Amino acid sequence: MSGVLVADHVTKTFSAGGSDVVALRDLSLEIAEGEFVCLIGASGCGKSTLLNMFAGFIQPSAGQLLLRGQPITGIEPRCGVVFQSYALFPWKTVRGNVEFGLKMKGVPAAERHRIADKFIDLVKLNGFENHYPVELSGGMQQRVTLARILAADPEVLLMDEPFAALDAMTRQVMQEELLRIHEQSRKTTVFVTHHVDEALILSDRIIVLSARPGRVKAIVANNLPRPRRVDIQLSPDFAKMKAEIWGHVEEEVRKHVEATRLSSAAG
Ligand SMILES: Nc1ncnc2c1ncn2[C@@H]1O[C@H](COP(=O)(O)OP(=O)(O)O)[C@@H](O)[C@H]1O
Ligand SMILES: [Mg+2]
Repeated sequence: MSGVLVADHVTKTFSAGGSDVVALRDLSLEIAEGEFVCLIGASGCGKSTLLNMFAGFIQPSAGQLLLRGQPITGIEPRCGVVFQSYALFPWKTVRGNVEFGLKMKGVPAAERHRIADKFIDLVKLNGFENHYPVELSGGMQQRVTLARILAADPEVLLMDEPFAALDAMTRQVMQEELLRIHEQSRKTTVFVTHHVDEALILSDRIIVLSARPGRVKAIVANNLPRPRRVDIQLSPDFAKMKAEIWGHVEEEVRKHVEATRLSSAAG
């Protein structure tokens, strides 16, 4: 397999309270250079587990994960990770947060400043450089996170439901921002979501995972034209694709709901 990111027959089992939970079973997939892939699937199907393995935060029980052909065996500095929560330093300003990774890399102050300005500009936070996270809305904090990750220039962007905590309107604005940023940066991106609409707005390709244990259930190429804006949602092609994706997802969500019902009935 030749993708930038590869999961090769990956299984992940967690041992919890004396019993084993198989989160993913024999999952294989491949992400190409510059591609924006959305992973979608029912709650608990192992989306975060897969992303955390790509980031090197956790190791598979079997199989392997590769970045440009090399096994990922520890925390992978070439991957930039954005979570649902904002993970900013509350005691640092916007600029301080965006510059942090560069400072760690030993980038000199003037250069840091220049790079930070570029990315603060990209996420449209000019004028807020000296604000602290607590002074910003959720959407703005997530923009700072994005600027911080992008400033470190990772080879791959891993995003785990980064907009889930935002209200519906802010989420749309952020989706539009991310579309624009991706047009410019063309960074290889894996974006986890459980929103079919979000996946269709953002992706080049949608990978639907089955209910736990997660496996690849379907891969759908998203040929909606780029450059895109969020109003692509109004197009007939969008509706058609949404029906197709939902067809794959629905059955898995039902299985998940049924499994949850049975396990709570079993007590
Ligand atoms: N550290 C862990 N210990 C035990 N079980 C875990 C752990 N992390 C995840 N799981 C279990 O693995 C499954 C997949 O979890 P996760 O990857 O978070 O799902 P998703 O992100 O798709 O909602 C779930 O059943 C979850 O409870
Ligand atoms: Mg998750």
